Amino acid sequence: MSRKSNGMRIGILTAGGDCPGINAAIRGVGKTAIFKYGMKLYGISDGFSGMITKEYTELSEKDLSGILTLGGTILGTSREKPFKPADKNNKELKKPALIKEHYEQMGLDCLVCIGGNGTQKTASLLAREGLNVVGIPKTIDNDVWGTDITFGFDSAVHIATEAIDRLHSTANSHKRIMIIEVMGHHAGWIALYSGIAGGGDVILIPEIPYQENRIAEYLLQRAENNKAYSIVVMAEGVKNPEKGISAAQYLSRRITELTGLETRETVLGYVQRGGNPSHYDRVLATRYGTEAADMIARRDFGKMVALRKNDIVPIPLDDVAGKLKLIEPGNSLVQLTKNMGTSFGE
Ligand code: F6P
Repeated sequence: MSRKSNGMRIGILTAGGDCPGINAAIRGVGKTAIFKYGMKLYGISDGFSGMITKEYTELSEKDLSGILTLGGTILGTSREKPFKPADKNNKELKKPALIKEHYEQMGLDCLVCIGGNGTQKTASLLAREGLNVVGIPKTIDNDVWGTDITFGFDSAVHIATEAIDRLHSTANSHKRIMIIEVMGHHAGWIALYSGIAGGGDVILIPEIPYQENRIAEYLLQRAENNKAYSIVVMAEGVKNPEKGISAAQYLSRRITELTGLETRETVLGYVQRGGNPSHYDRVLATRYGTEAADMIARRDFGKMVALRKNDIVPIPLDDVAGKLKLIEPGNSLVQLTKNMGTSFGE
């Protein structure tokens, strides 16, 4: 295959919380850009911070080798939000102007923004400022609007499921209630999927408000039915009226108070965001990355790559910005899980 250069220069950054599969996406964009189109690729350091401070480096094909299986991001990340005023009283925004200036100084033809909801919102605002932008959705939370699945989610569910599997045996030995708290502030996708995959007896998600006494009744009923133990899988974002402790710690205490059953909690935390991507996430990230490079070549800007019924399609960033993909009340997985007797604490 020829490597005729189309002369385009692409900047690429990763912003927000990291997740498995980011490097696979960088590789997908970069290898296609370099190999298929002869473009030049520039890696921006630490998300939008690197565009503000103009920290970047050219990435060669060699730099993209050996990163497919690596967790985290080779570019570094940050939660910098350039459109958020630094001072509530002074709404003047200096950072977007700096980003624009540096984009021009670097001679970029496009900026690829790999990130979750916040990143896609910033990307859409930069597009409105006149920059050529392409978004790639990533997050373990799977809550980016407009795409069926974000990469990182499958790997996180895998880790959470393995953790739940391990809790079953110790719960059985001690005849305890085991609570596991997984990530998800607004969306309960990880809790729902790992709860189903790990056979959780109670699954709690932010989208369905729970009642403590209903959970207590359900757990006591299980104990009366000679079920030696119960597993509660909950998202970190479910109701927690007590400051300074996790939702799992709060619920653990309340369950003991209401039922007298011995209860322990596990907060899985950052373990579920680290490490190597699953094969599913590697493939999805590669598909997103290669499509992003193709979009750039045909100058299809202001869009995010999305997965829709197993097809990768570009969708307008303006449609994505400011929205969250939550679990809807009639979600079929929730329904079928309820039909099997699992409690959602209602
Ligand atoms: O990446 C999303 C997420 O994992 C959330 O589920 C979690 O609450 C959040 O990031 C925490 O990340 P950090 O501490 O890095 O801000």
